[in-house]
Order: sequence, then C-alpha cells, then structure tokens
Amino acid sequence: MKGHFPIDKFSSLRTPFYYYDTEVLRNTLNCIRAEVARYENFVVHYAVKANVNPKVLTIIRENGLGADCVSGGEIQAAIKAGFPANKIVFAGVGKADWEINLGLDYNIFCFNVESVPELEVINELAAERGKIANVAFRINPDVGAHTHANITTGLAENKFGISMQDMEHVIELAAEMQHVNFVGLHFHIGSQILDMGDFVALCNRINELQEKLDARGIRIEHINVGGGLGIDYHHPNRQSIPDFSAYFKTYATHLKLRAYQKLHFELGRAVVGQCGSLIARVLYVKQGTNKQFAILDAGMTDLIRPALYQAYHKIENISSEASVETYDVVGPVCESSDVFGKSVDLNGVKRGDFLALRSAGAYGEIMASQYNCRTLPQGYLSDEFM
Ligand code: LLP
Repeated sequence: MKGHFPIDKFSSLRTPFYYYDTEVLRNTLNCIRAEVARYENFVVHYAVKANVNPKVLTIIRENGLGADCVSGGEIQAAIKAGFPANKIVFAGVGKADWEINLGLDYNIFCFNVESVPELEVINELAAERGKIANVAFRINPDVGAHTHANITTGLAENKFGISMQDMEHVIELAAEMQHVNFVGLHFHIGSQILDMGDFVALCNRINELQEKLDARGIRIEHINVGGGLGIDYHHPNRQSIPDFSAYFKTYATHLKLRAYQKLHFELGRAVVGQCGSLIARVLYVKQGTNKQFAILDAGMTDLIRPALYQAYHKIENISSEASVETYDVVGPVCESSDVFGKSVDLNGVKRGDFLALRSAGAYGEIMASQYNCRTLPQGYLSDEFM
C-alpha cells in the first residue's frame, strides 16, 4: 500500500476509476455534525449534484444530512439512498413538469422557486393533485464571490433567482395562490469560496432584506444560504477537512437569525471533495520537442474540471519512488484542452504506473461524459478493498 492507496488491489480493476476514502468522508461528516451541534437552528443538506455515487449518498444520509436536489433524477437518487422526502429540497432554474410532479408525489419538503412562471406552474400542478406545495424563493442577492467566473451564481447578470426588487411582489403573489405555501428564502452565491468575507457580504444582504420584510409584517420561517464552502486543492491529505468551524461561525455571527427561524446550508464540495481521487494508469511516456508527456488512460471525459475551469488537481504517482521529473500530464481525448496539468513534478513515471488525481470527490465522477465513445468511470469505496 503506497500512502493510503491499496494499489495492490487496483491491478485487477479497469482504469480509470474513482476511489473514495470512506474514512475521510466519515471524518468530514463527523466534523460537520460536531460543528452544527453548536447552533440550535442550523440544518445541513448535502448538494447531491456534487456526487451521486449510491454508497457515498448512503453514508451521507446515515449522518443525518438532508438532500438538496436540482433535477428529478437527483430526487430519485436521494430517495433510493433512503433520504426521507421531508428532508429533500428541489432547486433549479428550469424544472420540468414531470420533475415538479415527482416532487409533489413524494411530498418533498420544499421547492426553491426561481421565477413567477415557475411558481404558477407549481401552483397548477399541485392543484391537479389536490396538494399544497411548500415554496421558498431563490433571491439573487447580487453578491459576488471570489471564485472562478463559471461558478459564481449570485450576481444580477447570472440566470439564477428572482431579483431583490421583485421579492415582495412574488411573496404577495404566492399568498394569493391556493396550492403553494410560502416558507422561506433561498440564496447561493457560488462555489469553491474560501474567503469568509464573501459569506459575510451575503449575511449583510439577507439582514437588509429581512428588515424590509419585517416592516411589511412578512414572516420567513426558513433561510437557506446555499453552499459554496471551498476546499484546499493544493494540500490534499487524509486530515484536510474544510474549515467548517469558521464557516458556521461566520453565519452565526453575522446573520441576524430570528428565534423562530431555521438556517439551512447546502454543502456539496466541502462534504465529498477531499475523499475522492481519480485513479488512472500511464499508457505512454512520450518525449516531445522540449517537454515530456505522461499520457494517461483517463481524460477530460473522466474529470472535466481542469479543461472546463482550469481547475488544479494535485497529481501523484502512487506507484513510484523514483526521482522526480517534470511532465505535462494529458489524457487520450482528441482535444487540446485534455490536459490535467502542465510541468507537473512527479516521481519518475513509466508505463503502467498508477497516478492519483486528488481532491476529485466533488464534481468529478458525476460530470463524466462518453465523448469519443469512452466508457464512464466506475466508483469504488475504500471499504470495498478491506
Ligand atoms: N446550492 C446551490 C443552489 C448550488 O447551485 C450549488 C452548486 C450548491 C448548493 C453546492 O455548492 P458547493 O457547496 O458544492 O460549492 N461543477 C463546478 C461547481 C458547480 C456548483 C454548482 N452549484 C465545479 O466543478 O467546480
């Protein structure tokens, strides 16, 4: 076993595959549970979009988290993994009728509504079923986040949410509808956020909005502040657990929560990011004109984050102790952007070595595609190798 990877057991598996270290996942969840227990009204949901591996979902559910879903497929995955329907919320800017009906049929806790036309459709579909749907409004708080432009969501220019100016009007509209019940407000400013100041800015904005609503006598039972807590991609190790203490404390300090309110979080990356690695084998080492390439059997179809967001994933040669050399680490896909890292220092690489692309538990396996008719990677939990 090199490091904590059971590579002797890897030889019989088809590569590439995702490897999830269940101890890291459980330690992360224990930390979340311990931190949340300090605050009476905090409720944590897992943003299912980050990773829907059924065994990973089951462990998360066993730790008491609710599920934040953004499609009918995610609702089905959450239900299958045993999440109780009353702990499922359904968000998303374009919910199809069948997806809304699915949520209604399961009696999920809440729909996070992103527009007036969507509210009208939910009201109609709930009426057809003789039901009353809980709804929260996703408000676009026009708060930026210091992260990659593709993963900021809370700016006025983004497609998400209802504008602050329209908020009161929409709440009034909902009050007139027979088959929806307004329960709260929902926000999400972006992902991979490490600067707590961004969350403070969101708290300040929510405080302002609450004052406005208070003045009109509108009561908000649930405030959902989305997810977004980032992870340390540069120093993955078995102890690298995101700073949940600072994260929850930021909200406890800066958000003026009323005694009757519940504060919901929807964390994805911070829950599953560090437990996962993409394991690939080296197919060829190729000498270019002025650099050498390590060509892997994994490509952007297996882990698209580097190609899509120029994201950094630490790469380790887990088969070798040989002296360090520098490589461009690339995949087999016919796209120049199929590169995992340029000028990467690795223990000397040879054909057949296993490489680990670390911190790939979130938005890795689930964003895989079959471009070039490639096979989707499998996911294995470390428990399965015991
Ligand atoms: N809630 C809402 C409404 C969201 O849109 C998201 C993520 C989350 C919660 C969870 O955010 P997290 O805690 O994971 O930051 N594929 C990109 C990330 C996209 C995030 C989309 N929304 C990536 O690989 O970086």
